[in-house]
Amino acid sequence: MQVTKTVEETRKQIKAWKKEGKTIGLVPTMGFLHEGHASLIKKCREQNDIVVVSDFVNPTQFGPTEDLEAYPRDFERDSKLCESLGTDLIFCPEPSEMYHDPHAFVSIDTLSETLCGKTRPIHFKGVCTVVTKLFHIVAPDRAYFGQKDAQQLAIIRKMVQDLNFDIEIVGCPIVREEDGLAKSSRNTYLSDEERKAALCLSRSVKLGQEIIHAGISAEELLGKMRAVIEAEPLAKIDYVSMVDALTMQPVEKADHNVLVAMAVYIGKTRLIDNFSYEV
Ligand code: PAJ
Repeated sequence: MQVTKTVEETRKQIKAWKKEGKTIGLVPTMGFLHEGHASLIKKCREQNDIVVVSDFVNPTQFGPTEDLEAYPRDFERDSKLCESLGTDLIFCPEPSEMYHDPHAFVSIDTLSETLCGKTRPIHFKGVCTVVTKLFHIVAPDRAYFGQKDAQQLAIIRKMVQDLNFDIEIVGCPIVREEDGLAKSSRNTYLSDEERKAALCLSRSVKLGQEIIHAGISAEELLGKMRAVIEAEPLAKIDYVSMVDALTMQPVEKADHNVLVAMAVYIGKTRLIDNFSYEV
């Protein structure tokens, strides 16, 4: 397994692989890898000759009061996990390799304004920018993203379509802990008490999946889902919403394909969860 830190050495290796006619899969990550990331890498391994993982805590997707400095990092562990999963190359640049000031940005406005975009106004602009850069550096045939970040996945799909990237976007299901909590690098922030409280997200998602049916109103569905979270004293709702699966705009009724998504603060940690419903 190769480890590259610069755009130049990454491109050089990718070009050599392309010359040999190899297909390339890319799994973009911010590191501190867990089984959620591993599921993407495994899928990528199955479908491509070459597996590239990027491991980069992207500063431009963090707001000024967010957890950029505190974001957990452990490159040694990430690198071992990647190697054990058959990764061919990890690209782990320093921020100075990726950004200079001033810098161009890419944004997909309307889809970025709802759900997480309301509380994190610059987040998706940072995501679209870094993913565009990674797409240009690695030039993959396929790229892998988790449904855990459903709005991110919808935005990347739209970006790829609108900006004519010749890349297949593969969405992968949410990987959960045994008790239901969606795996996340941010789960490490939780105290024991908060870890238990965090289960209100997956419980609310589970209830939503059980009671959703074609035509149910957002008010009825979300009211019941919110009640599960409000019963937990350590939890504070950022949003619990039902949106159109493609446009990410709020809908009144589950009468077509929708995404039901939530962000909830457990103490100071902001966690997300969701499910999709297809009519
Ligand atoms: P990160 O949070 O590290 O996640 C990398 C990828 O792993 C994302 O596509 C995310 O949806 C997926 N993932 C995380 N937890 C998952 C889980 N429990 N089940 C399934 N997939 C999961 O998302 C980012 O990084 C960044 O925004 C990035 C796209 C790398 C751009 O910086």
